Amino acid sequence: MGMNFPMVPAPAPAAGGTPAATPAPAPQGPVVGTTQQKVPGAAGTTANLADLGIPTLVVADGPAGLRISPTRPGETRTFYATAFPIATLLAASWDLDLVYQTGLDMGSEVKAYGVDVLLGPGMNIHRNPLGGRNFEYFSEDPYLTGKMAASIVKGIQANGVGTSVKHFAANNHETNRNMINVKVSPRALREIYLRGFEIVVREAAPWTVMSSYNKVNGPYTSENPELLKTVLRDDWGFKGFVMTDWFGGRNAAAQMVAGNDLLMPGGQAQMDTLLAAVRRGDLPEKYIDENVDRMLNIIRVSPTFLGHQPSNNPDLKGHAERARKTASEGMVLLKNEAATLPAKPQPVAVFGNYSYDLVSGGTGSGDVNEAYTISLPDGLSGAGFTVDAGLRTLYETYIVAEKAKQPPRRSFFAPPVIVPEMAILPKDLKKAASTNAMAIITIGRIAGEGGDRKVQDDYYLSAAEKQLIADVSKAFHAKGKKVVVMLNIGGVIETASWRDLVDGILLTWLPGQEAGNAIADVLSGKVNPSGKLPTSFLVKYEDDPAAEGFPGQEYGPEIDLGRRKVRASEITYQEGVFVGYRAFDKRNIAPAYEFGHGLSYTTFGYSDLKLSSPAFSGSVTATVTVTNTGKVAGREVVQVYLAAPGKTMEKPLAELKAFGKTGLLQPGQSETLTFTLDARSLTSFDEGRSAWVAEAGTYTVKIGASSRDIRAQANFTLATEQVVERVNKALEME
Ligand code: BGC
Repeated sequence: MGMNFPMVPAPAPAAGGTPAATPAPAPQGPVVGTTQQKVPGAAGTTANLADLGIPTLVVADGPAGLRISPTRPGETRTFYATAFPIATLLAASWDLDLVYQTGLDMGSEVKAYGVDVLLGPGMNIHRNPLGGRNFEYFSEDPYLTGKMAASIVKGIQANGVGTSVKHFAANNHETNRNMINVKVSPRALREIYLRGFEIVVREAAPWTVMSSYNKVNGPYTSENPELLKTVLRDDWGFKGFVMTDWFGGRNAAAQMVAGNDLLMPGGQAQMDTLLAAVRRGDLPEKYIDENVDRMLNIIRVSPTFLGHQPSNNPDLKGHAERARKTASEGMVLLKNEAATLPAKPQPVAVFGNYSYDLVSGGTGSGDVNEAYTISLPDGLSGAGFTVDAGLRTLYETYIVAEKAKQPPRRSFFAPPVIVPEMAILPKDLKKAASTNAMAIITIGRIAGEGGDRKVQDDYYLSAAEKQLIADVSKAFHAKGKKVVVMLNIGGVIETASWRDLVDGILLTWLPGQEAGNAIADVLSGKVNPSGKLPTSFLVKYEDDPAAEGFPGQEYGPEIDLGRRKVRASEITYQEGVFVGYRAFDKRNIAPAYEFGHGLSYTTFGYSDLKLSSPAFSGSVTATVTVTNTGKVAGREVVQVYLAAPGKTMEKPLAELKAFGKTGLLQPGQSETLTFTLDARSLTSFDEGRSAWVAEAGTYTVKIGASSRDIRAQANFTLATEQVVERVNKALEME
């Protein structure tokens, strides 16, 4: 880093705050979800410098919608925000226009409630299925991540408010997030962990970037000028400002020098330390001037500075209607044996705790305070289904009684209460199977900030859940009736050991506040599902190379944080660029459901793949025609993978380089889609030259309905190697 500054103890969080990295004095500033005068429940504010004409900016979470307090002291009215579907569901829609519209709606709530910057989108890579915040992030693929983030940022910012793309960078899991050092090669950083951020910065110019809690190859991200200056600003041209994650990093002066302009939530101790460092001459003022400049550039275009008066009256009704549509567009039909769905069985038996306690979103700062969540029985009833009332009473009574036994949640970050799966008595099951026309079973998961998921009873189903699926399937199949499982989850779970028992599986994700309605729309066929997986579903957890060494190795002495003791840890991303489908393709591992998989109630044919030229010069364009060959209207997600020659660099078998989605095609109707691959699409990152290099040779364009369902392919050649872009050498492994 070149300079040696005294360590500044970060303020410790108050109840509900983020654990700080070091022993620390009492909190001085605002903490998550409290203390805001301007917008109660917002995550933080910038300093009020009214004397200088610089007002306080309000920043608030988060990725699935605005997170503010729904009530305010002394006010009788409410301030609810819309709980939109989680980011992973948005990515599963593969629909950039839809995601832009979601951004528009989110941003209009941000503006209406007097907030200046929304703390999202989250865009870390799904490296390991256990990542506790995967639901806040889009995908295991950096290109899909970057395109989704760019669309939502453009939509949010079109309202004249800002975003904070987070968590920059390599914050791929939660365990020990304030103390972990991620060791990762420059190539994997550039191609996988930074690539999405590069796309969003270049295409959508987010107002701010949030640095992450962890260290990367040594320093904390918020203290690393190679990350925040060399890469973010010099290589990519970022013009906004960088803020820390809450209480992130330790050394305030180093953060200023690194270009981490704003310390959040900010405390007097940090201010005192900075002032002292400047006065001593340890921290040259020019750094502070740059930090201030970058912040003022954003402050002067903010709603607050421009005198915008909050209406406190967003169009919640319109947003809910669109959130319902969006949710149904991102659900993924994983399995549909013998056209089990769509169906409107009368009556329908609904099993599983989560059927009666749907999860609309995750916990922590990614949660939203919405006015309501439509339950599954209510959604089904609203769509004209008759739900078995006896079963409903059994479950609802059980869940209320179980929840009453639980102690109150200790804090904002405490893991949510999991009600053990209710056991169904054989007599109740027998009755349900004879009186109902079909069974629905919901398997749910809830996770969130501050912790990762577990392998047993989480990634793998619990014994009680497996028993439920087996018993219900047996009873209903004995009567010739079908069974559909709904996965109300934010991250990947195991499906291979039980999927053969059931007829259909619908992945609903965490669909936001319109959950029950959106699910009913898909089950009934009002909406034909068109979502496809943005993340692979594995057979075994150990199949994932990222399982090795997860979630890191602790070392060194214990550090006493008062309420708990922590140790430093580190993790090596030994798999390099082979993350997600890139890994399974390389290892020849068959996933349970591959990246890009998703069924429809209709079928599609692909024809007439044409490339603009058999030889690459500057760019190449591919066109392909997609025809609805089935009986109902539907939309198809078309994926473009590229297999590149790998003589000097080891290459993934194929990588996603473009995608598109047809409009609603009527049976027999066709649409021709066009995809352009530019020179960067051909490249990998050559560490030796610190450059994006396209190797000479033959490239294969593979047009897929999924990563493993390639429907057409064609070759082009690149005559000579091309160094497409040189960048600064940075972020080398120690
Ligand atoms: C989270 C961020 C969030 C911030 C403010 C932190 O604990 O990691 O994602 O934006 O709190 O609530």
